[in-house]
Amino acid sequence: MHHGNTRRVAEILADALGVDILQPLDPRSKQLGASALVGLGSGIYYGRHHVSLLRLVETWIEVPPKVFLFSTAGLPFLRYWQHAALRRRVQKQGCEVVGEFCCAGWDSFGPLWLIGGLNRKRPNESDLRRARKFAEEMARVLR
Ligand SMILES: Cc1cc2nc3c(=O)[nH]c(=O)nc-3n(C[C@H](O)[C@H](O)[C@H](O)COP(=O)(O)O)c2cc1C
Repeated sequence: MHHGNTRRVAEILADALGVDILQPLDPRSKQLGASALVGLGSGIYYGRHHVSLLRLVETWIEVPPKVFLFSTAGLPFLRYWQHAALRRRVQKQGCEVVGEFCCAGWDSFGPLWLIGGLNRKRPNESDLRRARKFAEEMARVLR
């Protein structure tokens, strides 16, 4: 967790969907077969989701039928490509990907701190509003 950016988005999604947030290393994250829909998200690191999330999906004991992917990133417009590693892994496990969400997250990696970083103060109110709307779409998948 670089700045806790994705945590803020996860809290909005969890609140709107009425579900709990689990960490990738929580043993309960391995057995999600009873959950109709699961959201998987982290910051983007070197063009993909956090390695703990990628590993989790590869070692699932029980696989949920449907998932959505989310992230925050320095370069959110690269979502399709930066979600590809996780998307491939969940599809290989036989899950259907029903939606994807990405918004800008404050990034002060390496030399970026010299200029105060990229996307300062993101996610902002408008990003979180978009996240809430996305959660509403995901809730409809379950109906
Ligand atoms: C080591 C490192 C590598 C990163 N690599 C990328 C990247 O490849 N693409 C991108 O869009 N953002 C990249 N970022 C920016 C993060 O994805 C962004 O700051 C994100 O909001 C961090 O989320 P978190 O605070 O939830 O961990 C990187 C940040 C760090 C610290």
